[in-house]
Amino acid sequence: MLSDKQELLDLFEIKSAFKEDIVDALNHGRLVSNLAYCLARELSYPEEFCHKMGDAGMLHDIGKLQLGEYLYGRRTNALKIEEIKYVRMHPTLGYKFLTENNIGDENFRLFVLHHHENYDGSGYPDNIKGDDIPDGSKILRVCDVYAALTSERPYRPAFDKNTAMELMIDEVKNFDMRVFLAFMRVVHNDDFAEIEEYTESINRKVIESRKDNQEEIRLSSICEE
Ligand SMILES: [Fe+2]
Repeated sequence: MLSDKQELLDLFEIKSAFKEDIVDALNHGRLVSNLAYCLARELSYPEEFCHKMGDAGMLHDIGKLQLGEYLYGRRTNALKIEEIKYVRMHPTLGYKFLTENNIGDENFRLFVLHHHENYDGSGYPDNIKGDDIPDGSKILRVCDVYAALTSERPYRPAFDKNTAMELMIDEVKNFDMRVFLAFMRVVHNDDFAEIEEYTESINRKVIESRKDNQEEIRLSSICEE
């Protein structure tokens, strides 16, 4: 009986974790989308390009959906080496998915393919550097890192805006300086309060839903006893 109960509890936890991760993915996509749109505007791109960046922000991690159990339900940050290799396939999987489903034009799909490339060539999947990286990918790179740092994670609390920016300055070699400086202006603009509020509301919901999940797991455990 003990093993049945344990199996049910394990299943329940996987289900909760999966749900939490899907919600995280959607929240992250929306946040990157907003940031990418604002950053593109700050860089004076035409409105059509800014909207394209909003869409790319929403879809940049679409390849992660194909990583299934390697990502979803993970409650720690300790990825094994072979898992890191697998996770690093997500930009290519995303590009493939967008191409197969005829989503966006080729430029749009290349933005997604290269959103983890670093300016100094240390990124992935193709280790391209400098201006070989598409502009849209440079924008996504900055916004993605900022969104990740300022979001609650299962293994660490969210960093505040200033700490996130300091951490990014430490890693500035990863970013195109023109794009990064424009992002600093976006972050220090009065309008940014709206995005900060949105980020905080997501973080509050994540913390609350985690508490609810813990409570449901505890209750189901008591009922089974
Ligand atoms: Fe990504």
